[in-house]
Amino acid sequence: MARDICVLAYSGGLDTSVAIRWIQENYDLDVVAVAIDVGQERQDLDFVRQKALDIGAVESLVKDVREEYVDEFLSKALKANALYENKYPLVSAMSRPIIVKHLVEEAHRCRARYLAHGCTGKGNDQVRFEVGIAALDPDLEVLAPVREWELKTREQEMLYAQERGIPVPTTVDSPYSIDDNLWGRAIECGVLEDPWVEPPADIYTLTSDSRGNSCDNPEYAEISFEQGIPVALDGELCSFHDIIVRMNELAGKHGFGRVDMIENRLIGVKSREIYEVPGALTLITAHKAMEDLCLERQVLHYKLGVEQKWSELVYNGMWFSPLKEALDGFIETTQQLVTGDVRLRFFKGSCVTVGRRSPYSLYDYNLATYDEADNFDHEAAKGFIDLHGLPVRVWARQRRKVGKDGEV
Ligand code: ARG
Repeated sequence: MARDICVLAYSGGLDTSVAIRWIQENYDLDVVAVAIDVGQERQDLDFVRQKALDIGAVESLVKDVREEYVDEFLSKALKANALYENKYPLVSAMSRPIIVKHLVEEAHRCRARYLAHGCTGKGNDQVRFEVGIAALDPDLEVLAPVREWELKTREQEMLYAQERGIPVPTTVDSPYSIDDNLWGRAIECGVLEDPWVEPPADIYTLTSDSRGNSCDNPEYAEISFEQGIPVALDGELCSFHDIIVRMNELAGKHGFGRVDMIENRLIGVKSREIYEVPGALTLITAHKAMEDLCLERQVLHYKLGVEQKWSELVYNGMWFSPLKEALDGFIETTQQLVTGDVRLRFFKGSCVTVGRRSPYSLYDYNLATYDEADNFDHEAAKGFIDLHGLPVRVWARQRRKVGKDGEV
């Protein structure tokens, strides 16, 4: 009888390569390896696909989901100005849900009952995989080899691999754990685990050092939005995908987009994280500038709270959840008139908004100006202040009775 099938989220690295054999041996399952292209720094994905077959996967495929990632996932993050703890644009947290979606699709295609991922037991990613899978198909069973196996050290894992003819890294291992996609790069481990140690220059690949190598002349970019989504760059129509790629280049060249933070993981541990997110931070800066012009005050203020909740939900693995979906509905409604252009200036590690315009701008020159074009009703201001301050006036009179005249 044919063995049951396990679909494995495969990256080509040592952990998931060892996992192929470990699942076969410990669960007596056939393994189908699935690698998902979300725009990670160019890896030879054909090589990755073949490697899984060589190790013993019964089937191996690479799915290029970059377009869907941009249109269905990153578009939502941008509309939400998503920053976890006001700093982290959710690089890894954004890619996990689309990976999960495609793993579940593949599981259904090959009638697999099992899904496996290569996450450790200490991070957020295991939560994102498992809650995501449960949301899309609660009947699938999840295996987490790296969390389950007894290979405690890297050496034990290498030995296990060598005994089975699984290729092991020949160069000296990078001490860092890196995860990347179109939305940026996350770098952890090694010396970075000491929060006092300045990150070594060689961990960065997307951004140049804003003190040294970055350009000596400022550069400008004009990003055009339609209903919250970037549609053109410097006046030329351009896909959202290409705008992300080009902003990664331009902002990265000027040294903008590095984040060094202490972050609160869902599992309760604080960790030191380095991110390179030039494109993501640039686009969020521009999108916020567009909203400043086009969103009515109450909506803008209320949305700030929604953005924070949205980011927290996505960070915590709740992409496929009813509250996150409901908040998407709110955010989508707010974007109807978020259309126009934003001009940005890049220089020595900074990205500053220097201009914004929109056919739906709520900025009214005649209301805002201090010159003679002024349309603002100054008389009305007096009445407004009387009523706005009325409760305070009443309270102040009462407070006098306890001899606290004018005191704070
Ligand atoms: N701390 C970040 C997050 O939880 C980044 C995780 C990076 N993942 C990795 N496997 N290196 O989203």
